[in-house]
Amino acid sequence: MISATKLKSVDFYRKIPRDLTEASLSGAGLSIVAALVMMFLFGMELSSYMSVSTSTSVIVDKSSDGDYLRIDFNISFPALSCEFASVDVSDVLGTNRLNITKTVRKFSIDSNLRPTGAEFHSGTVANAVKHDDEVDEESVEGSFSLTTHNFDKYVHQFPVTIVNFYAPWCSWCQRLKPSWEKTAKIMKERYDPEMDGRIILAKVDCTQEGDLCRRNHIQGYPSIRIFRKGSDLRSEHGHHEHESYYGDRDTESLVKFMEDLVTSLPTESQKLALEDKSNAADNAKRPAPSAGGCRVEGYVRVKKVPGNLIISARSDAHSFDASQMNMSHVINNLSFGKKVTPRAMSDVKLLIPYIGSSHDRLNGRSFINTRDLGANVTVSSIFYMKNL
Ligand SMILES: *[C@@H]1O[C@H](CO)[C@@H](O)[C@H](O)[C@H]1NC(C)=O
Ligand SMILES: *[C@@H]1O[C@H](CO)[C@@H](O)[C@H](O)[C@H]1NC(C)=O
Ligand SMILES: *[C@@H]1O[C@H](CO)[C@@H](O)[C@H](O)[C@H]1NC(C)=O
Ligand SMILES: *[C@@H]1O[C@H](CO)[C@@H](O)[C@H](O)[C@H]1NC(C)=O
Ligand SMILES: *[C@@H]1O[C@H](CO)[C@@H](O)[C@H](O)[C@H]1NC(C)=O
Repeated sequence: MISATKLKSVDFYRKIPRDLTEASLSGAGLSIVAALVMMFLFGMELSSYMSVSTSTSVIVDKSSDGDYLRIDFNISFPALSCEFASVDVSDVLGTNRLNITKTVRKFSIDSNLRPTGAEFHSGTVANAVKHDDEVDEESVEGSFSLTTHNFDKYVHQFPVTIVNFYAPWCSWCQRLKPSWEKTAKIMKERYDPEMDGRIILAKVDCTQEGDLCRRNHIQGYPSIRIFRKGSDLRSEHGHHEHESYYGDRDTESLVKFMEDLVTSLPTESQKLALEDKSNAADNAKRPAPSAGGCRVEGYVRVKKVPGNLIISARSDAHSFDASQMNMSHVINNLSFGKKVTPRAMSDVKLLIPYIGSSHDRLNGRSFINTRDLGANVTVSSIFYMKNL
């Protein structure tokens, strides 16, 4: 057994009897200073503990799919013609790409979303459409005004009826008007409708004859359509095939085009042997859309910043009545970023159970305008699923 005295002998902190201590003035001063410093430090710590601070940090997304986000889409527009549908991309960094064609394909569809033929190609890149330079004030009225009532009569009477569907307010129509009327006058003199009657130029005011224009799927003004007696094929869906004129709009070009049309007309004896000859290669005219719709599918690559993907009607030589455009659409598929495999998806679902309800939520949804027309279709790419 170790005795208590022996144990006490290892004490490091030996006590001095209180009687031997002595309070000194300098010691008191030091103590007060120390106490003040301690209180000060405590106060500082407490206040920094209590204060709220906010810090922001930006982290660059380093996912393996690179700097760009791919948006895949497949959207059907039952009432927007492929000739005008344009896919545009813009974002907050100032990117502004209009009419993307490289990665986008268009298919004409009818109002029931059924495709009505092969892929739509917008043809060769046209330069700016030419118009008559000098406008002489004397207004000639050469072309016939057609209405819903006499339209069919004319189209069935003349071998070729060329109709300018226009709207009085539209600036492109106003620029076309003088050369159109002049051309009509010239053609009237050369091919008197009473005597010769091989060709006739007419016009339809779409603000007056809305139904007639809708029936012909007129969406942009002016639209010049070529109707041929007899050869307007009527398919079983009731579509009719005719052509649309996309060439220059000055008198000279118009007259030349009409002359070519007339000379390519078969005379009675040739009529049987025609069929494929009549559609000689001609850049200025292309088949008019046989139905008014378009399916736009493809993808765009966008920067990973807030931005817009816009599908709208656009043209370099037509005006649109925004209040009459029907931008109803059915989204077949719309997805952002790489496709998540089903396995990865189920893994994610374990962590974030509600995620499945928002993924692919738009697929198969339709947005049909029944009353308010004229809205643009905008898909915001602010949200995207990170590549997993
Ligand atoms: C787009 O959707 C239509 C209708 O669902 C479908 O027929 C077509 O094959 C789709 N296109 C692509 C490229 O998936
Ligand atoms: C889009 O561009 C192509 C070729 O660059 C052109 O032929 C087409 O008319 C343009 N479409 C629209 C709607 O502007
Ligand atoms: C497109 O959406 C349909 C449902 O509308 C779906 O069945 C199909 O798998 C989707 N296709 C793609 C490529 O995501
Ligand atoms: C727009 O087009 C859709 C599809 O063709 C049609 O159901 C809808 O009634 C149209 N809306 C108007 C206001 O014409
Ligand atoms: C549609 O977008 C174009 C530009 O992309 C804009 O000029 C036009 O005003 C928009 N129309 C509506 C109805 O928002």
